[in-house]
Amino acid sequence: MSNHQTEDVCVNDWVNQVLDTVKHNTPATQASAYAPSNIALSKYWGKREANFNLPVTGSLSISLADHGTKTGLSVIDAPAHQVILNGEQVGEHKSFAIKINQWLDRVLPSDLKLRIDTHNTVPTAAGLASSASGFAALTLATNTLMGWQLPEYLLSALARLGSGSASRSLWHGFVKWQAGELADGSDSIAFPLKPQWPQLKVGLLTVSSLSKAVSSREGMGRTVATSALYKQWPQKTEADLASIEAAITNGDFETMAATAEHNAMSMHATMAAAWPPLVYWQPESLVQMQKIWQLRQQGLPLYFTMDAGPNLKLLFEAQHQADVEAAFPEIQIITPFSHVTEVRD
Ligand code: PMV
Repeated sequence: MSNHQTEDVCVNDWVNQVLDTVKHNTPATQASAYAPSNIALSKYWGKREANFNLPVTGSLSISLADHGTKTGLSVIDAPAHQVILNGEQVGEHKSFAIKINQWLDRVLPSDLKLRIDTHNTVPTAAGLASSASGFAALTLATNTLMGWQLPEYLLSALARLGSGSASRSLWHGFVKWQAGELADGSDSIAFPLKPQWPQLKVGLLTVSSLSKAVSSREGMGRTVATSALYKQWPQKTEADLASIEAAITNGDFETMAATAEHNAMSMHATMAAAWPPLVYWQPESLVQMQKIWQLRQQGLPLYFTMDAGPNLKLLFEAQHQADVEAAFPEIQIITPFSHVTEVRD
């Protein structure tokens, strides 16, 4: 057996252990769930183990309220699962369907086949990753369909098997994913943080809606393997995480947002130093960054973060929304704590 196959058996063993008493529950006929998309303020970049999607470091994200994925599941009498994305059937050889089938085949009895009806509430053109909200919604819907009633930390670990950042998409608000140390990832789980920040805004600035040529999975692998700058990354990002978490607790916007921007720029620097070089930016990304830096110099408290793509996610507070909209008329604004009414003093 190859190494890869052995690891795969380990993942299946772990899943079987977790679902030991519930895997063969009689499913309901249908179930559905919603999960928000999320963006990391301190990033997950690099795996210490690829089959379980175990990260080198912890990360901390903010969920994007009503921007996410709604997934409906229904039991079907068919030889294979059917994956529908935004109303259209996805061919079984497309990577989107392959990943979903792989995840379902790990957790379901082999004779149970489902129709998976996935709707992204984020316009695809917004340039947000949908794999995080997609796997989180799939995990929550499967938990309901199968009557697993698993604790949230196990659902987070199961969602992580589909996509690392999905472990953080089970909750609204700020979420921390701790790296953990165990080989089977039982302690590599996410959990929501208490502080809320009703004035916090996230602005989506879409530079390009084309799908990226290099997936984050491949990008991370290449960076860890070839970038000398990656050696600095674990220490840098763990320090950023601690400082962002403290800033969230203290309601210190400047520290939180500045550290998030610095963290994103540092991550992109590790990628640029990979070989072959990995640059997700488009020329327009840099134009927008310079505009933000200029506005900041003029006194506007405006920062950004970026993931493995060319689009910027702006961070600012409600009192500056009009200025931000005036500078970026095309921006799409999200209020992560839109469900919270009280105002932080
Ligand atoms: O979960 P993945 O494999 O899509 O990787 C996410 C990587 C980043 O978006 C760049 C960082 C993060 O923490 O979300």
